[in-house]
Amino acid sequence: MIPFNKPVWLGTEPQRMTDAIRTNGHVAGGGPFSQQCEAWLSRHLGQPALLVTSGTHALELAALLLDVGHGDEIIMPSFTFVSTANAVVLRGGRPVFADVDANGNIEPTEVDRRRTSRTKAVVVVHYAGNSCDMRALASAAASVPIIEDAAQALGASFEGQPLGTFGVCAAFSFHETKNVGCGEGGALTVRDSALLDRAMVMRDKGTNRRRFMAGLVDKYTWVDVGSSYALSDLNAAYLSVQLEAFAKIQHRRDALHHAYVAALRAPVADKGGYLIEPGPGVSSNHHLLGIVWSAPAVRDRFIAYMRDCQIITPFHYVALHESPFGRAFHDGGPLPMTERLSTCLCRLPLFYNLADADQDVVVGRTLEFLNAL
Ligand SMILES: Cc1ncc(COP(=O)(O)O)c(C=O)c1O
Repeated sequence: MIPFNKPVWLGTEPQRMTDAIRTNGHVAGGGPFSQQCEAWLSRHLGQPALLVTSGTHALELAALLLDVGHGDEIIMPSFTFVSTANAVVLRGGRPVFADVDANGNIEPTEVDRRRTSRTKAVVVVHYAGNSCDMRALASAAASVPIIEDAAQALGASFEGQPLGTFGVCAAFSFHETKNVGCGEGGALTVRDSALLDRAMVMRDKGTNRRRFMAGLVDKYTWVDVGSSYALSDLNAAYLSVQLEAFAKIQHRRDALHHAYVAALRAPVADKGGYLIEPGPGVSSNHHLLGIVWSAPAVRDRFIAYMRDCQIITPFHYVALHESPFGRAFHDGGPLPMTERLSTCLCRLPLFYNLADADQDVVVGRTLEFLNAL
């Protein structure tokens, strides 16, 4: 069996977790390994980053931070993970679903078209670790703040600027499916220092505990709305190993991705499909390899064929505007590219510990399928 994903495994993660327990004696949030990971992220991004319990919670924190409330409209792609929309709905806001381009990123013209006086924010999702067109989006959003859902995008950039630094804030994920991870984890980056202070309070259950720990107040108390969003130092210890090895991990992913593209781009195109690829000015982190097939029936046949060969090649996203819960928020209009991707896209196994021999099998079986089409 060749799975779709295996969490990155370097081998020294358990020792680091033991260090958190035995050496540091600190396993709650805010410990030495959390600080280490935040310092790494801040260096990499050039702005502060707060470690949190998941990408989902980073998005929830972003919605809290921007005071998303009842009746607010938040424009976002329908082609995304449910957490992008849940973060807004949990605050009483309404997701306004927009269509995407052929590579799964929100269309700037859609943002322009759907913006109203009730629009509180625009959430852009960098699908597959390929940047959205941030230049066109900044102009389409006008003065409306942009939140980046960069869950898949650590290490990627647009015109040389790291993703996660364009919006007022950005959410990253360290779920086991991501390029680096710790099982469940995430980070929120915040551009504005006034918002950063508030984000820290909100991450600490709405208390000023951080100021208390720094000796700035003599007791800590409830000062704002918040929740328990700090990542345990056990998870941070695990994550710190993978962040240190980020360049090596990316190097391997890039090699795997390039090998897939070299072998499959032309044969897939010959049969009317295409691969998800970065647009102009985009340096990708190669989070995933997506094939968009010519028709839903072809995609479904491919997934079934590969499953028979013991290879898992899953679809990506049931469009939110067509989902049982998301339908209620939508105006009923078609989102043609979202619907195309939702029914025609699947992903190939791509993870750090994927062996060359296994990748060769995946490529071989895919070519076999294409030749028989
Ligand atoms: C686009 C997107 N947003 C949000 C999330 C949620 O991240 P997490 O799984 O860390 O909660 C994911 C993770 O799969 C994602 O891909």
